[in-house]
Amino acid sequence: MPMTTPAESVFAPLPNATRAARPEFESGQRFADIPPAHEIEAEISRLRRERNAVILAHYYQDGELQDIADFVGDSLELSRKAAETRADVIAFCGVHFMAETAKILNPDKTVVVPDVDAGCSLADRCPAPAFAEWLSQYPGHTVVSYINCSAAVKAMSDVICTSANACKIVASLPADRPIVFAPDRHLGRWVARQTGRELVLWPGFCIVHEQFSARRLVKLKTEHPRAKVLAHPECEEAVLALADFVGSTSALLRHVESSEHDCFIIATEAGILHQMRRRRPDATFITAQPHSGCDCALCPYMRLNTFEKLFVALRDLQPAIAVAPNVRERARAALDRMMEISARP
Ligand code: 13P
Ligand code: SF4
Repeated sequence: MPMTTPAESVFAPLPNATRAARPEFESGQRFADIPPAHEIEAEISRLRRERNAVILAHYYQDGELQDIADFVGDSLELSRKAAETRADVIAFCGVHFMAETAKILNPDKTVVVPDVDAGCSLADRCPAPAFAEWLSQYPGHTVVSYINCSAAVKAMSDVICTSANACKIVASLPADRPIVFAPDRHLGRWVARQTGRELVLWPGFCIVHEQFSARRLVKLKTEHPRAKVLAHPECEEAVLALADFVGSTSALLRHVESSEHDCFIIATEAGILHQMRRRRPDATFITAQPHSGCDCALCPYMRLNTFEKLFVALRDLQPAIAVAPNVRERARAALDRMMEISARP
């Protein structure tokens, strides 16, 4: 099935346009008066009660942040939780676009993040002005954007998807409707194959998932012949072709829980192992390896969040996420469309 990608020139590195500068962070002032290590967990819990806050954490966060959270989930589950919470404050342990999504869904609540610099290579490499210019080449196309993008890009989209519902969203669109898909080319290519739809792809990628090497995966499979390979659809096509199961983080977790096998090679961010080990203490988990360099399979953005920064965010209610009302309304419409299609039987 034909798939088109735009020229790589739109993909030149650009300055971070989605997150404002924060002089108080640069000066280090906000990190004064942090409680000692043995008290910080209790202090976070005290602030959570006082602020009537809910702590949400993505599966890619460090285990201790997952453990202190009220709810741990994937992007779709966290959006749902954010939409239904009755808390006054949402402390979002994840990356910026996730907290921004929570703010779009809850304009009257305070949404704070431990570190406002916790971005995402997909969102950061799809700046709104370049995206608008790119879209102008595809009039009449339905714009489907992966939730890993800025509020401004969401506002230019017809419908949002996550890795958990991307196939359902694309398959729900009328068969004669041309579609552009942004910003993850690997997820887009996988969705195109699953649904049989032709998608025009923005050439973005996740720096963590694109690192996994098919060649090294073949070697690992030979060393562990019993192991089943589980991969996130943000991985390259050659890695997905070697996988026994492909799915969102929550789908990978469910698969591990219900599988009769007890040895798995995991091609996604290693934070997920915290929940996998908990749900299957009998099983062995091996992380897939990158082409070269760091072997940790950790997202450097997610790892900017720490216990100390979560404490400071709850204490100061900063850094707080803001979304301009005109952007918010249009982004909200695209998110609502996702929720509506996603809830269909
Ligand atoms: P999901 O939470 O949709 O599985 O996405 C993974 C991811 O990379 C989030 O940044
Ligand atoms: Fe973005 Fe990849 Fe990190 Fe997820 S793992 S937040 S897609 S850089």
